[in-house]
Amino acid sequence: MGAPRDELARRYAAVRAASERLMAPLSEADFRIQSMPDVSPPFWNLGHTSWFFAANVLRPLGREPAGFPGFDYTFNSYYEGIGPRLPRAQRGRVAQPATSRVREYRAAVDAAMQDWIAQCPESQLPALADVIAIGIEHEQQHQELFVTEILHIRSSAPADLRVPYASAAPASVDAADPTPLRAIGFAAADSLLGHDAPGFCWDNELPAHRVHVPAFALGDRLITNAEWLAFVADGGYRRPLLWLSNGWAAVQQHGWQAPLYWERQGERWLRWTLRGLVDVAAAAPVCHVSFYEADAFARWYGEQFAAWRHARLPRESEWEHAARQHGFDQVGGNLLDGDLARCAFDVLPAARSEALRQLAGDVWEWTLSHYEPYPGYRPFAGALMEYNGKFMDNQRVLRGGSFATPRAQARRGYRNFWPADTRFQATGVRLLLDR
Ligand code: AVJ
Ligand code: FE
Repeated sequence: MGAPRDELARRYAAVRAASERLMAPLSEADFRIQSMPDVSPPFWNLGHTSWFFAANVLRPLGREPAGFPGFDYTFNSYYEGIGPRLPRAQRGRVAQPATSRVREYRAAVDAAMQDWIAQCPESQLPALADVIAIGIEHEQQHQELFVTEILHIRSSAPADLRVPYASAAPASVDAADPTPLRAIGFAAADSLLGHDAPGFCWDNELPAHRVHVPAFALGDRLITNAEWLAFVADGGYRRPLLWLSNGWAAVQQHGWQAPLYWERQGERWLRWTLRGLVDVAAAAPVCHVSFYEADAFARWYGEQFAAWRHARLPRESEWEHAARQHGFDQVGGNLLDGDLARCAFDVLPAARSEALRQLAGDVWEWTLSHYEPYPGYRPFAGALMEYNGKFMDNQRVLRGGSFATPRAQARRGYRNFWPADTRFQATGVRLLLDR
């Protein structure tokens, strides 16, 4: 048995265990709650990530565990090529499969996977490693989804009965004021867009290609709660001329007056977090705003400050160019650690420095870019062709990763994508200035 085989077995086991550790604080009731259509109940997350290995690795080998009827139907998320499925919005309306059965399924898939990792002929090992790598990255994406979903699930109980996911943070050194927002200049350049480093990437990050990036300046940190409070106080949510037409429609339809999870008690603003209800910390980055809110904020900010006239959100080419120039510090970023005791589970104030900060972690940064294929894009082969490509429609790209993103997964070229009205993900704002 060669080292690559052991390494594969170890990486597989590690990601599976990490998902279970994340879900350890849940009650049995939590596992079944779908607090809104976009939020899958945790039992589904647990089953779907197992199904992914069953359908994409074990089934083609004839090694899928038997005795789990209905699981293919329940845990197929969106693969038309694989077959019919339980509609997304109904995941929280089914009592079966019981969570205990889902755990048995998970164990059976793990046993079959480890058997095959141990027995697979040497010649087939590289192909196995490739598909397991995708399954591992997929499971990490679902760890992030889980973190944002349990935040929403736990927010949905009657206010006096809400239970935080994690214990209260050590009394925060709530940081003095953030440093004033500074614009870091970039000259016009031909830059690379896309994944050109060793290691994993999704099909949508390829091929790396040259793009021209006109001169611009980028905010040296994320937009803070203090800045967002000023936008709220100035009537930002009541001024249609700041908003895109669809954004203004969303404000009215949903009654948005502040970011998701903000609530007012008299003069005080609080926010529901994974660590319970906390004061809105002035210096921390604003989180849980939609693309539409980010876009309206940029317009408002440009009105307020002459130096930021015509502020806007960055394009992904500009964002990635800046990250290539200044570095994407995944190691120092506020991301999700395997060691949960080290996780912030929330946004943190920017360090006081002159550097380009917070590119990695804290919040996913909305870009102006519509989620589209790069020139020459080729989807994954086979059933996984549906993984990313078919969603390149009516969504915006986000960059950087959040406190909920597994650290191992965050990288400079990573293209997250969500519809413009999404707020339950950990999403925030960095501004750009045309030069
Ligand atoms: C990249 C986060 C938008 O949630 O649909 C999970 C990740 N893809 N399973 C999503 C994903 C397949 C994806 N996002
Ligand atoms: Fe999935």
